[in-house]
Amino acid sequence: MSIPVIFHEYMELINRKIDEIFQEDDPSIRDIALYHIRAGGKRARPILSVLTCQGLGGTLEDVLPSALALEILHNVSLIYDDMIDGNVLRRGQEPLHVKFGHKNALLAASYLTWKALEVFSENVKPAALKELAYAARMTTLGEKLDIDFSRVTEEDYMRICEAKTSYQFSVSTFLGAIAATDDEAILQESRRFGKNLGLAFQIRDDILNIVGKESVFGKPVGTDLLQGRPNFVVVKALEKVGDTLYEGDTAQKIMESGAVEEATRTAEDYLEKARQFLDMFTVDKYREMLDVMVQFIIRRTL
Ligand code: IPE
Ligand code: IPE
Ligand code: MG
Repeated sequence: MSIPVIFHEYMELINRKIDEIFQEDDPSIRDIALYHIRAGGKRARPILSVLTCQGLGGTLEDVLPSALALEILHNVSLIYDDMIDGNVLRRGQEPLHVKFGHKNALLAASYLTWKALEVFSENVKPAALKELAYAARMTTLGEKLDIDFSRVTEEDYMRICEAKTSYQFSVSTFLGAIAATDDEAILQESRRFGKNLGLAFQIRDDILNIVGKESVFGKPVGTDLLQGRPNFVVVKALEKVGDTLYEGDTAQKIMESGAVEEATRTAEDYLEKARQFLDMFTVDKYREMLDVMVQFIIRRTL
């Protein structure tokens, strides 16, 4: 499933605003800093943030600084992740460190981090800043766990997944919510919503790393298996097949094990848990749009 058309307007808005906020920046760093951002991406985190805010009765203006900062910080984590994973393809093109070298990639990541904070500070409640900083720190911990572990149990996997991916989603939905309301119960639920979406999102990503099509996915397929990276489908296949998974044609054994189907069911369970939050929405239009986003997370092919 490609990105649903109903999100195109949001994507265009986010792209336009990002271009605008970088207009004054020195071109010597701007062009490397925007290299990844200009290459595309689904803009899932800012869209989630904006829809959560609007669904709870807030306005686009209230949430836009957070939404832009979230997308910029997500791109920072991709720059680091590509260097750490030795990735050679991102959003259908060479990653930043391959195209411009490691020095430029590190500088771009640092530059973008501070730019994100600058944008974020335009409309910020102290609780929002704390949540953003915490999520960014947890993402970094997640990367550390991701490189420390190779063969993981389901428990290890969930801890890594929560850190490296889920916090970015829970902060997205939290920042959307806090732009609209100070109601503690709603804010707490918005975190839980994002956390469950994030877990499902990463499991789908793991599935696509096994069965996806590189030209659509925009990233290399099969690398988790080749490099022994934590991947939920592999965790499930190992549970089913045991150590003999690595004897002979591992990819085929994974496909025959039913692990892809089980991973899909697990992701669907997280999405089902997440959906309960939508009952708190006061604006139907945005509840329906977020529901489409929830479906997209498990059906996406990119
Ligand atoms: C990639 O995130 C990193 C993961 C958490 C799996 P996205 O799939 O949101 O990447 P883009 O922004 O659409 O390229
Ligand atoms: C995703 O890591 C999490 C972050 C980028 C922080 P992965 O290594 O699983 O994601 P891809 O496959 O490179 O996008
Ligand atoms: Mg990676």
